[in-house]
Amino acid sequence: MKPEEARIEIAELTKKINHYNIQYYQNDVSEVSDYEFDMLLEKLMSLEKEFPEFAYPDSPSKRVGGTITKAFNSVKHQYPMLSLGNTYNEEELFDFDKRVEKLLEEPYEYTCELKFDGVALSLTYENGLLLRAVTRGDGVQGDEVTENAKTIMNIPLSIEGENIPPLFEVRGEVFLTRKRFEQLNLEIVTENKEREKAGKKPIKLLANPRNAASGTLKMQDSGVVAKRKLGFFAYSLIWDNMDIKTHAEALELLTSWKFNVSDTYKKCGEIKEVVSYINDWEKKRKNFPVETDGIVIKVNDFRLQEELGYTSKSPRWAIAYKYKAESASTILKSVSFQVGRTGAVTPVANLEPVLLAGTTVKRASLHNANEIERLDLHLGDMVYIEKGGEIIPKITGVNTPLRKGDAQVVDFISNCPDCNTPLIRKEGEAAHYCPNVLGCPTQIKGRIEHFIQRKAMNVESLGPETIEQLYANGLLKHPGDLYKLTKEQLMSLDRFGEKSADNILEGIQNSKSIAFPRVLFALGIRYVGATVAEKLAIHFKNIDALTKATLEELVAVHEIGERIAESLVAYFEDEQNMLVIDALKEAGLQFEMPEEPEVNEEEATLAGKSFLVSGVFANYERDELKSLIKSKGGKVLSAVSGNLDYLIAGDKAGGSKLKKAEALEVKIISEEEFVSLLNS
Ligand code: IVH
Repeated sequence: MKPEEARIEIAELTKKINHYNIQYYQNDVSEVSDYEFDMLLEKLMSLEKEFPEFAYPDSPSKRVGGTITKAFNSVKHQYPMLSLGNTYNEEELFDFDKRVEKLLEEPYEYTCELKFDGVALSLTYENGLLLRAVTRGDGVQGDEVTENAKTIMNIPLSIEGENIPPLFEVRGEVFLTRKRFEQLNLEIVTENKEREKAGKKPIKLLANPRNAASGTLKMQDSGVVAKRKLGFFAYSLIWDNMDIKTHAEALELLTSWKFNVSDTYKKCGEIKEVVSYINDWEKKRKNFPVETDGIVIKVNDFRLQEELGYTSKSPRWAIAYKYKAESASTILKSVSFQVGRTGAVTPVANLEPVLLAGTTVKRASLHNANEIERLDLHLGDMVYIEKGGEIIPKITGVNTPLRKGDAQVVDFISNCPDCNTPLIRKEGEAAHYCPNVLGCPTQIKGRIEHFIQRKAMNVESLGPETIEQLYANGLLKHPGDLYKLTKEQLMSLDRFGEKSADNILEGIQNSKSIAFPRVLFALGIRYVGATVAEKLAIHFKNIDALTKATLEELVAVHEIGERIAESLVAYFEDEQNMLVIDALKEAGLQFEMPEEPEVNEEEATLAGKSFLVSGVFANYERDELKSLIKSKGGKVLSAVSGNLDYLIAGDKAGGSKLKKAEALEVKIISEEEFVSLLNS
């Protein structure tokens, strides 16, 4: 064939096959038989092999996979991938609507969409070509799975049209249809028969479409991924300085760019319409080809979305409505007890496996001794289980008429399942604790695992196995010991070579630059999660101030309640904990916030004035307001006193603070008044 002929034929075949693919995967229409389709694809591939210079970047031959990815790169998202707040009933939904109404003070409308039960994926397109596909990960960074994503037929490899932004991001959900999921499990059953004959271990069945989709997306061989036939629904579009105005327009634009947008979305003028959409889909969703677990409700107008803003975890302009979890009944086989890093002992119910909302359930959480008592659990009981918002289902009741006469009641254990120390239960607390904080192996290892995790000190080179080994060899009792490890010590251990020892030491060394808030979180103080640690670090600026803080000073910090404050005081009162902190200080970890830059005089419009910020604000996060005050030379106080000049009161501002401010004749101002003060 002459090159010119080949060029034309490649162009025609590419167009034709892409068209058939869209018809098949997006519109459920088969215009040609599988055989004809395969022939066309084969022809295209052989021509592309002979004339690679004419192959298109979006050639359907790129979809068959074949690349192997050994390790997926971790990539930071340009815009963080947040999650959604959940509601489980109409009342909570109305509360959401009321919040929106109050914050906006102008008309608005919603779009409702199905909440597809798959895995979120972010796609970046540059100059019309798919550049990168990244999983949600922890929301800040995820894994790059581009080669696997390319095998998904309804992810366009290239976009054509007018006014396409040079760089944009599309988000959506990767799924397996219910039908495809069934087919794959049937294939596994057939294959297992062959394997059994050959004396090989059987392959596990896929548990449910969502797990299967998520596992498939992370497979190393994109050829295998292609065969699984994943699908993709697009539900959001983002680029810098967007010139479209609404979410509905974004969905239309995505559709015109040939993305697979489910046509089930609907604009709703008021919350009552949202409720009928929810009710309408409660039944209909059972026949939808993809599993769904709720409805996503979004404020349609982008300007209003921006006005509503975000909390630290999720947007204020959207919410998920989750359909009631299904329930099932099964038999309680036994109860086991686990110790966590804080010494808390949690009971876990071991169940006769049962299918619930698409997953096989073998275990259920029982929370604490009260729960066991409340349920009056006996071994062999027929129990009802339900899936709530959490991953692990819970036992909601017992079918007592079915209980056997001699059934044995379930007792809480009295000694630690790991170190056998008698358990204690503090007054007013539901949980039992193993008090052997310094000697209980599970607690020791758990604290170190917590310390090195990604959200804390991020020592990627260490895993649970190595920690176990170091602990067993007496090299690791608390996080401070990590920084004393030597190469010789590591190399004297089984399985360790020079390279792996260096690797671990480098990871530990690098952790010394981790900022104070994360170091504080890493300490693993009970009730001090990452967000609380950040608040404390910002407020107290360094560990010495924090360790000296009294209970009163701690609860005066916004969002720090008594429970957290008591836990902090108890932690710092413990000499052993202080020794660990000293060791970590000596190792050179960051125990203070970096100095804030000086404010220059011209900008210090709030110099000499003090403020207290309370409540929720329409345009700012509370912490943003505080930084703003400081950046203008003002002082931020955490309690109302005679020294306070202004209380900036937002929605739901603390009632006692307002009263006290009034009594002390402190000026109470609104967000708007503060902004005009800034600009005066
Ligand atoms: S919008 C700020 N729309 O639900 C989050 N999410 O809990 C915006 N999901 O991670 C997400 N269907 O994986 C959106 N129509 C839909 C969705 C959807 C499923 C998933 C998504 C997200 C999770 C949020």
